[in-house]
Order: sequence, then structure tokens, then C-alpha cells
Amino acid sequence: MKQYELMMPGRVFGGENVVEQLAGIIEAEKASRVIVFTDAGVLATGICDSVFEQIKKAGADYSVISDLRPEPSTSDVTRAVEAINHSKGELVIAIGGGSVMDMAKLCAAMKGASYNIYDLLEKNDLMQKGLPTVMIPTTCGTGSEATFNAIIAVPEKSVKIGIVNKNMLADYVLLDGNMIRKLPPKIIAATGVDALAHAVECFTSNKANPFSDLYAAEGARLIFANLVRAYNNVEDMEAKSNLLIAAFYGGVSIASSGTTAVHALAYPLGGKYHIAHGVSNAIMFAPVMRANLEACEDRLALLEDIVDPSGHGNTSREKAKRMIERIESIVKDTEIPSSLREFGIGMEDMDFLVEAAADCKRLLNNNRCILTNEDIRAIYLEVI
Ligand SMILES: NC(=O)c1ccc[n+]([C@@H]2O[C@H](COP(=O)([O-])OP(=O)(O)OC[C@H]3O[C@@H](n4cnc5c(N)ncnc54)[C@H](O)[C@@H]3O)[C@@H](O)[C@H]2O)c1
Ligand SMILES: [Zn+2]
Repeated sequence: MKQYELMMPGRVFGGENVVEQLAGIIEAEKASRVIVFTDAGVLATGICDSVFEQIKKAGADYSVISDLRPEPSTSDVTRAVEAINHSKGELVIAIGGGSVMDMAKLCAAMKGASYNIYDLLEKNDLMQKGLPTVMIPTTCGTGSEATFNAIIAVPEKSVKIGIVNKNMLADYVLLDGNMIRKLPPKIIAATGVDALAHAVECFTSNKANPFSDLYAAEGARLIFANLVRAYNNVEDMEAKSNLLIAAFYGGVSIASSGTTAVHALAYPLGGKYHIAHGVSNAIMFAPVMRANLEACEDRLALLEDIVDPSGHGNTSREKAKRMIERIESIVKDTEIPSSLREFGIGMEDMDFLVEAAADCKRLLNNNRCILTNEDIRAIYLEVI
């Protein structure tokens, strides 16, 4: 029988205004100086102010590293490590989406370290536990607050590579719906579908297990019930809070299971053509699941039963197909592009895409259906 493991951040707080827990966390960590990671987009919304107030309430000083770009690359990491090496602090707080949280997790473990980002890309195991971290997600997608992964673009190779090391698991997570109150609908859509991809891929993965199934299934159910609501009504805070929980569940399921071919085929789209992570996954999601239909029929049908228990009269194949239709509908209803043409990608890019995706063995090995280069080409052809 196979063995499995569930790893979670140390303490997770959820609910409205839960940022108020921060002063107590800073005191418990005995941190007199705090380093805050965020980016210009998040800073401009004013949502960091409540965090700054908490730091002051705890009587600590803080410095802010906000010169961070979306979908960070190796040179961004080198710059941010230089910045954190110049900052004094005993605790790192990340306020942002996956880009900010990935950077904060990496930099917390790289402050004063002898290894650089290229060493880590070569050998993930070099990483040691660094400063304690607090993750405050401001998008409803990556689940980075729950994973021990950081995804970095490597421009030299035109790809994105995941660094995976348990020392990056956050010590604290604060899931506060107020943090996504002003999130633009377009970002709600893309990050919400990313979270759905995490849930569905982990549920259909070779690494799926009873622990990850629990979080993946409930994550998927919450996203199907709330994403379109939150996209259509920015004031729907109940839907948004549910999405924040679902995104976290997606991250927990990644930490116990693993994403599969959807993410493998999406990575080259981010790495070379800079399509946002959620959008590239949304484009590849249904076509990859159609290719997986045979191999994942039982799992897709089971997920359909969980999401819509009323379909009990249908065959397993019908239910699995219905799940894929649901995925297609949610991408359509949230108006995410579904073709690569819109990004100027054409047949001339095909060889690169196939080769780069086929190289992403870490994720393709999790895919129940073995995809040959020809299978991968056929999937890309559907969206070109
Ligand atoms: N570590 C993991 O487990 C993991 C998993 C999936 C994806 N990722 C990585 O995460 C990155 C993508 O993260 P993301 O999709 O969360 O987006 P993001 O962090 O790149 O943010 C996208 C944009 O949204 C803005 N933004 C964020 N929160 C906002 C708010 N509340 N209001 C207004 N604007 C806001 C940001 O300023 C930014 O411009 C990619 O690099 C991806 O590879 C990591
Ligand atoms: Zn993702």
C-alpha cells in the first residue's frame, strides 16, 4: 500500500478581520523588526495599512520590500535577496498573490545563506530553514500560502521551474476576506481557475491520497459554487471568503498530492510568453482533461458526484464528461481567453512548446495518462 503525508503551515487563521491576530503573532515570535514583502499593485489598494497598524501595535519596527514583479524570475530573486540581506528583521510577512508569497518564502530561506538561486534550482535540497514567515494571500488562486513550492521563471531557458523544499512551509497563514475585497474581477477569474486546476489535478493525480482528496474535493466544490458569483458581483464577500478558503485547500492538496499535465503544459506559456499563471492554466485545463478522460474517468466521475450529488443515474463516463464541461463553462463564464492566438502564439511556436512541456517531468509523472510528445502536440493544437 502506498504511503502519504499531510503537511500544513504551523498555524492557520481564517475569518473576517483575522489580520488582527498579527500583533499577537509578532509578540509570540519576539520579533522587534519585521520585513514585509508586497508589490506595487497590492500596496496601491491600501490593504497593507491594516498590517502596518498591527506591526506598530506589537511595538515592532518594519521595512518594506515592494519592488517585486509578477511571475518572478531568477534576476528578481537575486535582487530581492540583496534587499533582504540589507534589512534587519526576525520575521517575514508576505502580503500578496503567489508572486509575492513565493518570493517571501524563498528570500526568508536565503537571507544570509551561502547558496544562491541557481544553486537551489540545481539542488533544491540545499535550502535550510530561514526566518519564520507569515503569509497573507491577496488573490484567490495559487495556494502558495499552504505549499512548500516557489515557482521561478528562468529566462535563460524560457521556462518556469518549481523549487520544492519543506523549509519553505509557512509558519503562519492569515486568510482574511478583506484582502481580496478590491481584487479586480479579471484577477479573481484567473486565480480562481488556477485554484480549481490545483484541486482537480491533485484529485486526479497519481499522488492523490485520502488526505489530499479531502481538501481537493472541498476546494473544487467551493470554487464551482462561488467563483462566478464573486466574478459577477465584487461586493459578494461571502463568495470571496469561500474562494480564499478554497485556494488554501488547493494549496494543501498540492502539498500532499501534486499537480499534473495542466500545469506542465501551462508553464512554457508563462515562462516564454509571459501569460499570467491562472490564464495559462485556464487555457490548457479542459483540453488536458479531455486527453485524460479515459485514464481519470473514475476520479472525474467521483468529483462530479461530490460537486453535484443529483447526477446518480448517469454512467461514470457521462459524469466524467460533465465534470470537463463544468470546467469549460467556468472558464467561459469568467471570460478568460481560451486560445493562444490571442497572445500571438502560432504554429511556429509549437516545437518549443512541446519540448518545454515534455521536459516538465516532475508534473507529467503525476499525470495518470502517459502523454507522449505527439499527445502534447495534439493538445496544444486544440488551443492554437
Ligand atoms: N508556490 C506555489 O505553490 C504556486 C502555485 C501556483 C502558482 N504559483 C506562482 O504564483 C504566481 C502567480 O500568482 P497570482 O496568480 O496570485 O498573481 P500575482 O501574485 O502575480 O498577482 C497578479 C497581479 O495582481 C495584483 N494583486 C494582487 N492582489 C491584489 C489585490 N488584493 N487587489 C488588487 N490587485 C492585486 C498584483 O499586484 C499583480 O499585479 C506565479 O508566478 C505562479 O507560478 C505558485
Ligand atoms: Zn497553479
